[in-house]
Amino acid sequence: MTIRLKKEVIDILKALKKKSSEVLATDLAKELKIDYIVLMSAINDLIEYNLGGFKEKEVYQISLNDEGIDYLKDGLPERQLLNILSENKFKELSLDDFLEKSHLDRNIFYIGISNLKKNRWIAQSKASGENKIFLTADKFPETDMEKLLLKFKENPVIDYSLLSKDEIKQLDLLNKRKLLKQHRKTERIINLTEKGKKIEISKIKELEQVSKITSEMLISGAWKKYDLKPFDVTKPGPLLKAGKIHPMIRLINEIREIFISMGFTEIRGPIIESAFYNFDALFQPQDHPAREMQDTFYLNNPKVAKLPEKERVQAVKETHENGGDSGSHGWGYKWNTNTAKRTVLRTHTTSTTIRRLAEFYRNNEKPPVKVFCIDRVFRNEKVDRSHLAEFTQVEGIVIDDNVTLCDLIGLLSEFYRKLGFKKIITRPGFFPYTEPSMEVSVYYDKLGEWLEMGGSGIFRPEVTYPWGIKDPTRVLAWGQGLERIAMLYFDRDDIRDLYINPIKWLRSQSY
Ligand code: PHE
Repeated sequence: MTIRLKKEVIDILKALKKKSSEVLATDLAKELKIDYIVLMSAINDLIEYNLGGFKEKEVYQISLNDEGIDYLKDGLPERQLLNILSENKFKELSLDDFLEKSHLDRNIFYIGISNLKKNRWIAQSKASGENKIFLTADKFPETDMEKLLLKFKENPVIDYSLLSKDEIKQLDLLNKRKLLKQHRKTERIINLTEKGKKIEISKIKELEQVSKITSEMLISGAWKKYDLKPFDVTKPGPLLKAGKIHPMIRLINEIREIFISMGFTEIRGPIIESAFYNFDALFQPQDHPAREMQDTFYLNNPKVAKLPEKERVQAVKETHENGGDSGSHGWGYKWNTNTAKRTVLRTHTTSTTIRRLAEFYRNNEKPPVKVFCIDRVFRNEKVDRSHLAEFTQVEGIVIDDNVTLCDLIGLLSEFYRKLGFKKIITRPGFFPYTEPSMEVSVYYDKLGEWLEMGGSGIFRPEVTYPWGIKDPTRVLAWGQGLERIAMLYFDRDDIRDLYINPIKWLRSQSY
């Protein structure tokens, strides 16, 4: 029968043939720089051809315990005391003085004293009335026990069988002083059989490694000549480059789920909006800086939008001019219908939530109404790593009786908690259409920082009264940029990455 062995097994056989005696498996693995498991599996291959084998042997090993390790570092207590005496040139000293001057732990001190006495390195006398000690010699050479202790410096674990008789005697003493730990271990000793010792390496064929067995190999029986490469189950599988949902859409869907789980319904509204819904209905005066061309995209085609029913436009007009029936004084200027008719790309989704207030009025609905909107908005901004001219807002409103700022904070906490932020903080803020207004920040664990997320508040009477929503019915509202959350979620520091679609990043995203 031809002997076929893997290359690594042949190498191990060669190494064993060079040895005159048996070897410890652990030593051989170390010497050949291979894993112990690999070595033992090779030995099994040798056993199959009756070339080698192994025996098991119990071995006793000793190491120092924590106290022993301390003494290995600092010296045995008696040596520590001796060093203090000789450093300070004390020849005689009262025991109490010594304890104080030694700065040693009381326990260690007394262990030291008792061993100094045992070694006859000190003598004690009460002749002067005081309990005094005297050194008995000038020099105190290293003891056998100390020599043994030092052995643990190079070899923290010592084989019992390798110690001499004298060393074992010292070991017993160290053991009595409770400085040792004992372990029992099974060692494997590898040997070659007579056949293994005699065989010529050149007679052995190398098993070729293959990663697959083909049907031909099976039919011809040739598979026996091959060594099948083991699978590495830790290797990642091939990257699948299939189509998948864009991470931003995934995030939007997640936020949708959050709103829906809180009892909200989704609303959408037009991107091309009238200044009326985008600004006027939000009590933003017609000379408000946010309305300027440098902040807002005005459209030329179509240039004007239709306004809603006359009396509602009239109610908004009166609110601006004198407060209408909202209890406010208004802005005190002449409101211009043509300015309200101008078309804009909506600058926030709040225009869409106002449309929902209008619907509430027209349908004569009853509270509560809870809706949200996740949609595109546009601002005339210079695009850079933290600004886009076209981005997405996430907005929610609640129309209900007797709701307060506490309800709003509760909603915000719940919403952000579901998004993964456990702590939120609100601070006074300002928006022309809410009173009171709050800025919302969340604590971001990963950075250990508070991050500002968006605005919120209770819509002013000047906003809700024109739609017949009057105290104690109130509207809680909050809104924020989606991309802000996305950058945290996807760990991007350039907002543009979210839309220029870096292919490497997209491929690394889950489905
Ligand atoms: N519309 C505000 C913005 O664009 C956000 C906001 C919504 C503030 C609702 C208060 C209430 O930032």
